Amino acid sequence: MKLTISITLLPVLASAFAPATEMTPRSSTSLSAETDRRSVLQNIPSLAFLSAAAVTSSTALPQPSNAITGAGDGNLPDLPPEAARSYLQYRIPLQVATDYYLFELKDKLSNIDDWGEINQLYRTNNNKGQGQPNKIERDYINPMRILALSMPPDEADDMRAAQFKFEKAMQKISKAVSGVRRDLPVEIDRSVVVQAETGWDEGRMALNEFLTLLNSTTGLTEMKPIPAPGPNQLKEYGRSQKRFNELIKKTKLCQNRGGPALATAWGVAFTTQLLQDSCGIPDLDEYFYQ
Ligand SMILES: *[C@@H]1O[C@H](CO)[C@@H](O)[C@H](O)[C@H]1NC(C)=O
Repeated sequence: MKLTISITLLPVLASAFAPATEMTPRSSTSLSAETDRRSVLQNIPSLAFLSAAAVTSSTALPQPSNAITGAGDGNLPDLPPEAARSYLQYRIPLQVATDYYLFELKDKLSNIDDWGEINQLYRTNNNKGQGQPNKIERDYINPMRILALSMPPDEADDMRAAQFKFEKAMQKISKAVSGVRRDLPVEIDRSVVVQAETGWDEGRMALNEFLTLLNSTTGLTEMKPIPAPGPNQLKEYGRSQKRFNELIKKTKLCQNRGGPALATAWGVAFTTQLLQDSCGIPDLDEYFYQ
């Protein structure tokens, strides 16, 4: 009798563990490698570059004590494998993009001399007739879209709603700063400045909404929101601007030295160790869990 029961249970157990097996580090890396390689090839952007690194970094290196890599060790049991995979792939790039939103975009918006530069972020780079996504699409909207697509329907709807709010807010900023070009001094009406700031804050709230949904959907509560503007905003955010500047500086240096070409060539065998050795890019897990 006992024997019969255990034999009957065996297939059930096997299939219960199947999703977890599928999300072991090795297979998640190889499954994502092609997508990463393609996104690196297409965009050669700072964050696709990071997202490729993020995949391997969360799997190939010893974890900090508070690292919860999720599905592989059973911490994302309620998510479809696809959702777990996209979360593990995009959580670091999205937090870096959130860092950028607070540490850089906000300052640039408050300084009209920088508006020409902001304009560039919203401009599609029409290189050789191939529409390249601009920075806002690449670093925020595309990851949001991919994440939402991979989630169960209810969560996906909420995430899409947050994504649309974010896009609307970005259009507000884009409208305000458009017409201001680099090195071209123009008189700017106070109301336009207010519009840009309003766009930033609405974008902040939409981004937070999205991150909160990631928190609750995964149950990992590891995404950090941007606090409301005020004298303690940076402190309340609790992430290091210094580390952010260092990360961006190293990544840019690496790209100027041919980093993107290297990243392309690495494709499948892309490892953070290589990035760290050749460019001194900080460990991304440590950066994420700072
Ligand atoms: C995610 O959860 C943590 C822990 O509850 C919380 O500190 C953080 O603010 C949450 N993030 C967002 C974006 O709501």
